[in-house]
Amino acid sequence: MSITSKEIRKKFLDYFSEHSHLILESASLVPINDPTLLVVNSGMAPLKSYFTGEQRPPQQRLCNIQKCVRTNDIESVGDRHHLTFFEMMGNWSIGDYFKEEAVDFAWDLLKNGFGFDLSQMYATVFGGDKKFPAVPPDEESKVAWEKYLPKDRIISLGAKFNFWGPAGDTGPCGPCTEIFIDRGKNYGCGKDSCDPSCNCERFLEIWNAGVFMEYYLDENGNLRELPLKSVDAGAGLDRFAVILQGVDSIYETDLLSPIVEVFAPKDNLESKSVRIMTDHLRCATFMIADGIYPANTKREYIVRRIIRRALLHARLAEKDPESFIRATKVVVELFSPYYPELIRSQGIVEMAIRRETATFGKTLNRGLKELEKVFPKSQEVISGADAFKLYETYGFPLELTKEIAAEKSLKVDEEGYKNQLEKHKERSRQAKGGVQ
Ligand code: SER
Repeated sequence: MSITSKEIRKKFLDYFSEHSHLILESASLVPINDPTLLVVNSGMAPLKSYFTGEQRPPQQRLCNIQKCVRTNDIESVGDRHHLTFFEMMGNWSIGDYFKEEAVDFAWDLLKNGFGFDLSQMYATVFGGDKKFPAVPPDEESKVAWEKYLPKDRIISLGAKFNFWGPAGDTGPCGPCTEIFIDRGKNYGCGKDSCDPSCNCERFLEIWNAGVFMEYYLDENGNLRELPLKSVDAGAGLDRFAVILQGVDSIYETDLLSPIVEVFAPKDNLESKSVRIMTDHLRCATFMIADGIYPANTKREYIVRRIIRRALLHARLAEKDPESFIRATKVVVELFSPYYPELIRSQGIVEMAIRRETATFGKTLNRGLKELEKVFPKSQEVISGADAFKLYETYGFPLELTKEIAAEKSLKVDEEGYKNQLEKHKERSRQAKGGVQ
């Protein structure tokens, strides 16, 4: 293997440490004092109060590798690059360097540190957007990139692509500049118009080389300027490994392939169910190790949904759920050198996964049979009452029902589901004599 993920971690942290960045530990996945977030979803999330100026950082330049969970792209897990759990390699300037230096650091590390093939590299910058009329197009980043890249490989895009944050409903945010690697036409849609804004797999985003944290989005949707101009940059470790290890997908890197092997022989790397189990078991192991146990509310529901979704795929791929326990052991083995909490909580992780798989496993088959019965009468839409029955009686999270339905081109009446859920809560309150 050209470069191991262990070496990537070290090179990244050494580089920024040599450039006066203080190395921080990864924070827990459970946000502290942050009601806007259920789980830590980015390297900057635990550092928000530094960007707002509410707290002073230990140093103005910081870096780390932060464990993160994002479920907004969960339906894409199974392709080459999307994950629910990932490690973000981050560097930050809290009111210190700004756009030009952030671009210089990224270029220098990619070129001289890692030896990336820069002829495949594209950069995107914020080109202005009606959504944020007060935020000007980012000329400074564009000029900074022009030192290194031909103009036709610097692409200006709108807020959907090049305005990041806040992490949560409110908070620090700003325009950003991202780096993409062109993986070649064979990876993509094949259209001549394909560029980094296309959602095919040709252009892989490897580094958000700088979110320029100048603004705060408040609860009314208004932007105000922050007291400091800061940089929040982040690169996904798994994606770096894909390119540097010269493999097709994240599942062939040394970060995930040992987990894949629990579920499938090497020749079955493209099975979507195997990929989903691999990603979800890693995510569930990390979440439970941080004290998030499967349940029906808030962040606990995220881990429940992930395990139940993995169970559905175990059934589709005809895998014994006992393999889940073997997978968590591999996760602990692979990642505990960097996250010692995994060793301390190994027993709890196994217990929580066993309990969840036992509970849901029992009803999964009956629930699926029930779903089959619902399909013919649903025409195009599964009623809220049927979706709620699947949840209440068989423990099917709404999202899972939606996914299974989507495979048959059916929709779920979500409003109807919510009404049923409210009625159910009301009945429970009354049964408890009005106690909330
Ligand atoms: N917060 C930014 C992101 O998640 C940069 O790390 O993309």
